Amino acid sequence: MVDQAAEAAPLTARRAGALAGRARVPGDKSISHRSLILGALAVGETRIAGLLEGEDVINTGRAMQALGATVERTGEGAWRVMGVGVGGFAQPAAPLDFGNSGTGCRLVMGAVAGCPIEAVFDGDMSLRKRPMRRILDPLEKMGARASAAADGGRLPVTLRGAVDPIPIEYEAPVPSAQLKSAVLLAGLAAPGTTVLIEKEATRDHTEKMLKHFGASLRITTIGGHGRRIVLQGQPELEPAPVTVPADPSSAAFPLVAALIVPGSEIVLEGMMINPLRSGLLATLREMGASIEVVAQRNEGGEDVADLRVKAGALKGVEVPPERAPAMIDEYPILAVAAAFAEGETRMRGLKELRVKESDRLEATAAMLRVNGVAVEIDGDDLIVRGKGRAPGGGLVATHMDHRIAMSALVMGLGSEQPVGVDDAGIIATSFPGFVELMRSLGADLSS
Ligand code: S3P
Repeated sequence: MVDQAAEAAPLTARRAGALAGRARVPGDKSISHRSLILGALAVGETRIAGLLEGEDVINTGRAMQALGATVERTGEGAWRVMGVGVGGFAQPAAPLDFGNSGTGCRLVMGAVAGCPIEAVFDGDMSLRKRPMRRILDPLEKMGARASAAADGGRLPVTLRGAVDPIPIEYEAPVPSAQLKSAVLLAGLAAPGTTVLIEKEATRDHTEKMLKHFGASLRITTIGGHGRRIVLQGQPELEPAPVTVPADPSSAAFPLVAALIVPGSEIVLEGMMINPLRSGLLATLREMGASIEVVAQRNEGGEDVADLRVKAGALKGVEVPPERAPAMIDEYPILAVAAAFAEGETRMRGLKELRVKESDRLEATAAMLRVNGVAVEIDGDDLIVRGKGRAPGGGLVATHMDHRIAMSALVMGLGSEQPVGVDDAGIIATSFPGFVELMRSLGADLSS
């Protein structure tokens, strides 16, 4: 059994003065996981700068170590990985514990599937509820064998990697960067070409970083939004330095806070603006948000920007389903912005939200409802009827979901009555220092 968070840490957000100042949120979670995994699959030393030192990523680092790589912290956000090469993982002595992290667990499943070893994958009570079949299906086609204790391939799962991995052509049945990445990482160990087709493009960090580490990939667009990715198997990955840009999914919280707390003006520094992660920015701009790019540059292969964000009136909009992959983690905080907008916001095509760290569709609706906001779930759509203000006064159940916790606290900064969360401890999985950063901008958060 995996240890659960020791004690719940309730926290309350209250309306105070305007937010002001500059802030840089921690490193991107997706890129941080991948830098440790690709570093472990390269031969030699990879240096990482700006790694997100949240619990999710630390667990991936521990897993890489348990599989034979050397992972060392050399300074704040600075890490060194000595990799063992593609197919070179050693049999771990104990179950791999991924805590709250679907990304860590699913990507490492892919990397292990191409090695002739057996590993047990486990996580916390939230991760144990999440579907793993979607990952195990293609990995079994590639020659791995999985046995799960529960239905739907839920954790704990024992995975036996393939002795002779088989390259496959696979069309992803759901838009998921984790699924895509698992297949590509397993494909590294297979001879010939592994082909992954996605009908809707999802975040492309694995593809970009594989190229950065010397793998050969050919990517073509298909249909309006899809991609076909062809990976040449059995490359020798070369260590490559990684600079991790600021996480747009974390920046979303101070950003929306600055939009809804009257009189606020803040600058968010170095935020990654990869188009496949920027759906929230597009949507907020359509709602009338004042978000100005004050500087733009390239950091470690990704475009990043300093953004000036000013509070102001927002209006309800319709968010099309095809935008979901580019903002899949941002719906809870968008729903908060929608509550403070005038008019209806309909967010369409949110089926995948049901299998996040919580059933995020239900948890987001419940967060708004308990704070007096009119909200409805209609099939896979979330409808928020904004009134330009939110009553607040509710205690929000976070269901071990960091993004619900942070969204609820941001809501409390702008609502008429305080908003509490039952457990803010879970925020450390993705955004250590959230409370301090928000306080540095003037937020009133207290236990
Ligand atoms: C991630 C992919 C997304 C996202 C998660 C991070 C990744 O999950 O929700 O926070 O780093 O690949 P899905 O692949 O399940 O959509």
